[in-house]
Amino acid sequence: MKRTIKNKIVNSLVLSIIGGICLLSACFDDYSNEYYQDNNTYNDEAYRPFIHFTPQKYWMNDPNGMIYLDGEYHFFYQHNPYRSFWGYMSWGHAVSKDLIHWEHLPVAILADKSGDIFSGSSVIDKDNTAGFGANAMVAIYTSSGARQNQALAYSLDKGRTFTKYEGNPVLTDPNIIDFRDPKVFWHEASQKWIMSLATTQTITFYGSKNLKEWEKLSEFGEGIGAHGGVWECPDLFPLIHNGQTKWILLVSINPGAPNGGSGTQYFIGDFDGITFEADVLPYPLWLDYGKDNYAGVTWNNIPDSDGRRILVGWMSNWEYAETVPTMTWRNGGTLPRVLTLKSHPDGYPILASEFVAELDGIGEEWATLSNSGETYQLEVGNKAYQLEMNMLIPALNVATVTLSNDANEEFVITIDRNAGEFKTDRTESGRTNFSGNFPAVSIAPLNVNTENIVLSVIVDNNSVEAIINGGMVQQTNLIFPQKLYDAIHISGASSHSLKLRKFNSIH
Ligand code: FRU
Repeated sequence: MKRTIKNKIVNSLVLSIIGGICLLSACFDDYSNEYYQDNNTYNDEAYRPFIHFTPQKYWMNDPNGMIYLDGEYHFFYQHNPYRSFWGYMSWGHAVSKDLIHWEHLPVAILADKSGDIFSGSSVIDKDNTAGFGANAMVAIYTSSGARQNQALAYSLDKGRTFTKYEGNPVLTDPNIIDFRDPKVFWHEASQKWIMSLATTQTITFYGSKNLKEWEKLSEFGEGIGAHGGVWECPDLFPLIHNGQTKWILLVSINPGAPNGGSGTQYFIGDFDGITFEADVLPYPLWLDYGKDNYAGVTWNNIPDSDGRRILVGWMSNWEYAETVPTMTWRNGGTLPRVLTLKSHPDGYPILASEFVAELDGIGEEWATLSNSGETYQLEVGNKAYQLEMNMLIPALNVATVTLSNDANEEFVITIDRNAGEFKTDRTESGRTNFSGNFPAVSIAPLNVNTENIVLSVIVDNNSVEAIINGGMVQQTNLIFPQKLYDAIHISGASSHSLKLRKFNSIH
């Protein structure tokens, strides 16, 4: 009896009840039931990415509690510490000094008899508003048991150990079943903590002076944006655009993404400490049009001297997350991205994403590739790499960029200036048969109106991340080829130049 993801929340209730009973009888660690068996034999490590975050072992979904403190980026994540399937959800934990190399730490917050530890955020309580201690790291998460409630755990040792607050839960609602994924930040102007919470198909904002008592401020989302599935994992933060502060609201939705399954939409507007009011824009707008960038949230507490808004997403999709062909570890993070607002050719603002500059730290020198034809053999050996293509694509042209290997596996990127589309095709990308939803063509709007197209692509063992013109549109897609792609063929551009850099492995 293999569970489908669609009923994972219901199963969470069941698991929590079983978990509760088993915790009492210390039997929960026995995963001998059929659900946890996978009869496939996978050469897992063949797909372990060279430069992306993956859990050392077992299952991962959403990034959680992203926070920077004293030189460390903390990356907590939805984690099953026992198996490579969703279940017994806890917060895994890793830290990094550069957003690229990750040190794995013990599980930070373990499922308990109140339920699974679902997604959430963390803050540094510098003024000790909650009374746990000045500068406590406070995690605000959803405790998912018989119901979904919001709860706190705090750490006084930079995230190494957490204590669950004895007064949990801190926010409940008897009427809302899908009531989860609190993202909290300190709102200086109104001198209070603001929580964005996913409430079925809206985002509800709550305010608090002390993280323990919350009052409802407002609710956003009815009749606007995409509603093809449940709303999850919100994030609300400001960005400056043309000298003006705008507020961005990220909302992950599953299913209902533009190319199927899970995806993240966003809204741009104003937030006054109580209400988020969206600007009139052509919603839904999507953070990423690939199939594998979900539940992304941004780091809290990045110093003003840095000032970046940095996001990492879960590089998978609930359509097939439990069947991707790896078992010792399952699913990981996207490369971290810096978010900014840029102007769409039609004049309205859009959320742009670029790879973090920290990648330079593992990048070898850029090499310009030249060739008389259109096919280049890439001397990449066993390393992840980045290609940057400057292409001249006249208004009615369709250019294609094909990445391939000698096992006849390929990943095709199309830039169709006639249709104004940016497409990826992974139907022949390698192993695809583990899910009918995996072999896909994903279509994005091109979001630029120029013949000068810059395509930046990072290829790793199990992913292709492609960004157009400095982040105007992006696609993140998983792949499972037998070998790294090591050839590129470019056609349909009236001219192009190509450069390549390899990355040293982070392991
Ligand atoms: C999103 C999500 C969240 C929930 C978590 C459970 O992928 O469904 O809404 O908190 O996963 O693992």
